[in-house]
Amino acid sequence: MPVTRAITLLGLESSCDDTAAAVVRRDEAGASHVLSNVVVGQNDLHRAFGGVVPEIAARAHAEKIDHCVEKALGEAGIGLAQIDAIAVTSGPGLIGGVISGVMCAKGLALATGKPLIGVNHLAGHALTPRLTDGLTYPYLMLLVSGGHCQFLIVRSATEFSRLGGTIDDAPGEAFDKTARLLGLAQPGGPEVQKAAESGDPKRFKFPRPMLDRAGCDMSFSGLKTAVLRARNEVMQGDTIHLADVHDLCAGFQRAVVDVLAEKTRRALVLYLAEKPATPALAVAGGVAANTAIRAVLETVCTEQNVAFTAPPLALCTDNAAMIAYAGIELFEAGQRDGMELSARPRWPLDRASAPMLGSGKKGAKA
Ligand code: KG4
Ligand code: ZN
Repeated sequence: MPVTRAITLLGLESSCDDTAAAVVRRDEAGASHVLSNVVVGQNDLHRAFGGVVPEIAARAHAEKIDHCVEKALGEAGIGLAQIDAIAVTSGPGLIGGVISGVMCAKGLALATGKPLIGVNHLAGHALTPRLTDGLTYPYLMLLVSGGHCQFLIVRSATEFSRLGGTIDDAPGEAFDKTARLLGLAQPGGPEVQKAAESGDPKRFKFPRPMLDRAGCDMSFSGLKTAVLRARNEVMQGDTIHLADVHDLCAGFQRAVVDVLAEKTRRALVLYLAEKPATPALAVAGGVAANTAIRAVLETVCTEQNVAFTAPPLALCTDNAAMIAYAGIELFEAGQRDGMELSARPRWPLDRASAPMLGSGKKGAKA
């Protein structure tokens, strides 16, 4: 699409445990720039509860979101007058948090007369490789985080085909639960990865759930039960040796890596059958930080002659720049929402596929 003028959007995100605001501009030449990207996390508020508490999250979003908006505008060096529209995550996610963001965005839209654009949080993640790497449609996306896990063919800002996803926990949840079982700190992903580096991945025989079933669906909840069982076998009273923790983490991580590698191969077969002009796989979500997972995805892509992209971590995890960017594409496609924009706890990107069953602590999975 020919770009004739620069478009600048303010984006808001509050669907889980990060309150975020950002300003993104697409210039006259079509290049996108993140002018600011403010994220205020809530880990400290939820730590004592071992997971995200929706009511605490919602209250914290309502308290912090105005501050995030001010900071994002300040860092971008612009005022609301220079914004073309306000984009906000209007689902899916923890409903109290989503409502906080939508109410704030409506207030701003009403006060300034600027258009309001409701954005699907998953679309934000899925479109990020266009913001960071200028990927062209259609590309394959693996969204893998504490709240999501799915393969999507991204065809446009509004057309997505889900090839499969988790039927229970997201991988990040499995990493976090494994860390909890082994007395490691939260969030568990980085801790498990670190411990795995000194462990023997072959000592414990963990399952590779759903590899025996056709298709791209996955399951991770059984894996954490297997870790629990193996841990109980090696524990002596209340104590567990560090070497055992390392081996359990290495075995668990290898199982996740093997499942993601094989399911990615299958998703690529389906995607490549469509003969995309410039085949590419992008990965996003907090679990994309895992070096073993990145490495195996890169290998699978090299095998298939497919480009591999992983946006920088700050844009892989929950943020508002991805919402502002998705807002720009939707704005250009003519989307405008009014004061009737509602917050949706569930909002599958692919309307043709049945909703996924999985819905863990961090909310719906599709
Ligand atoms: O995308 P994200 O920041 O937000 C939510 O989904 O809420 O993802 C957070 C998740 C957590 O479960 C965390 O343990 C996981 O990403 N994570 C990792 C790593 N770094 C973060 N999992 C595995 N390995 C890592 N290095
Ligand atoms: Zn997310």
